[in-house]
Amino acid sequence: MNPSSTQAIPSPSALPVLGHSHHFIGKSPVAVAMEMTKLFDGIFNLKFFGMDIILITGQKYAHAACSEGSFEKSIHLGLQELRAIGGDGLFTAYDHEANWRKAHNILLPGFSKKAMSKYLPIMHENAKGLCDRLARHSGSFVKADDEMARYTLETVAACGFGYSFEAFADEKSDAYHYLEAMNYCLTEGLRRMKMPGFLKALPLPSLLRFKRNTQKMFRYADDIITKRMADQSRSEELDFLNLMLNTLDKDTGEKLDKENIRYQLLTFLVAGHETTSSVLAFAIYFLLRHPEVLVKARAEVDRVWSDGVPSGVSMKEVLSFRYLQQIFRECLRLWPTAPSIAVQSPKGAVLCDRLYIKPNQVCILSLPNLHRDKSVWGENSDAFDPENFSAENMKNIPENAYMPFGQGARTCIGQHFAMTEAIVLLAMMLKRFDFEGKEDYQLEVSDNLTIKPENLWVRFKPRF
Ligand code: HEM
Repeated sequence: MNPSSTQAIPSPSALPVLGHSHHFIGKSPVAVAMEMTKLFDGIFNLKFFGMDIILITGQKYAHAACSEGSFEKSIHLGLQELRAIGGDGLFTAYDHEANWRKAHNILLPGFSKKAMSKYLPIMHENAKGLCDRLARHSGSFVKADDEMARYTLETVAACGFGYSFEAFADEKSDAYHYLEAMNYCLTEGLRRMKMPGFLKALPLPSLLRFKRNTQKMFRYADDIITKRMADQSRSEELDFLNLMLNTLDKDTGEKLDKENIRYQLLTFLVAGHETTSSVLAFAIYFLLRHPEVLVKARAEVDRVWSDGVPSGVSMKEVLSFRYLQQIFRECLRLWPTAPSIAVQSPKGAVLCDRLYIKPNQVCILSLPNLHRDKSVWGENSDAFDPENFSAENMKNIPENAYMPFGQGARTCIGQHFAMTEAIVLLAMMLKRFDFEGKEDYQLEVSDNLTIKPENLWVRFKPRF
């Protein structure tokens, strides 16, 4: 189609030069996108210092882009900054980089059914470790998101690399120092995204600190790799690290190089922990807000584990926690913890026969908005309701209306891992504790690459 015969993508009124960037001062991008979404019918264009970004917030446009065939993952400004940590690792690699396909092939068996059965006892052990810690602190309120992050960090490191951050210790452990470095790099990376190029190159104290913390993360990764290489007794185990160190790619016959293994390892520690810890924290928030859902969830857990706190967990039990699964799916609908997916079409595209997208134009699929599209989820689309994901209702969800784990070739490799570990921990917490929140708590959602409920203080009171 000739671009001149298409319509312009609507846009809010913009300031000269600044475009729409002033809307974002002191506000989270997710909050601004949620406000602006109300003004448009599923798609709009924002300008930042002359650069266009298209936000897709409605299912019909998301479906058009995802099924059009020419869109690929866009490594846009924020992801470019994260390449300082993730390099050409799976999450931050360009589609055309050879290491993406190679690593994808090599790592897939690490997410197979067989691998999941191997990880399950580790997940259970870590769920027990966190619950024991929560029991030790049951006299006081703890920050739910921090506690959940201890579990997911420990679990991805233990299952993936046979490594422990000692995350359940009461004193400051490796986990604390690692998380401190990681959080600094993520926050600073996103701040750098908004800086003009010349400012980024200046040796400002923030840049030097960013580099120091990046080096700290590299040292963690290198330490994990060196320890494994020195320990031949574990070389037969199925985990991410052994696959990366020992497997040849089926297409090229090559192994991953050492620098890429470091990038993949950091990618798993970043992509594989905050996303899952945040959905666990949102689940706790919604269970506190919806006692009727909590009662139903606990009944399911007590039915499956009728003999008290279990000493182990089977995959059959995990799969039978269907209602817990519905709860997580609904949390990821309202608050998808990886809230945006950036795509672009190298040759340009026309959406819905009328909207022209320029070649390599960055389009953001804004998931918290897409997942609340009223034409799909009804007038009450902002309300929490796990029944949206009952077996019956799931059949009616249109294609590309719900994509908390991404879409296409670059979809999340860890989604089954994430759901399994989340179900194991939530089931254990429901079995062992009553949850008490602060009555006046108002949901605050923080936005730092991933989103999470901020300042959610919870007391976990032992049931037995
Ligand atoms: C609830 C938890 C999780 C959510 C919501 C989530 C979400 C996502 C999303 C939306 C993407 C696509 C991003 C894009 O297209 O730009 C993605 C990719 C990815 N995720 Fe996850 N994720 C979760 C858990 C995990 C876990 C546990 C792991 C690893 C153990 C993991 C590893 C990855 C990797 C490596 C990629 C890049 C895949 C590729 O491009 O080949 N994620 N994730």
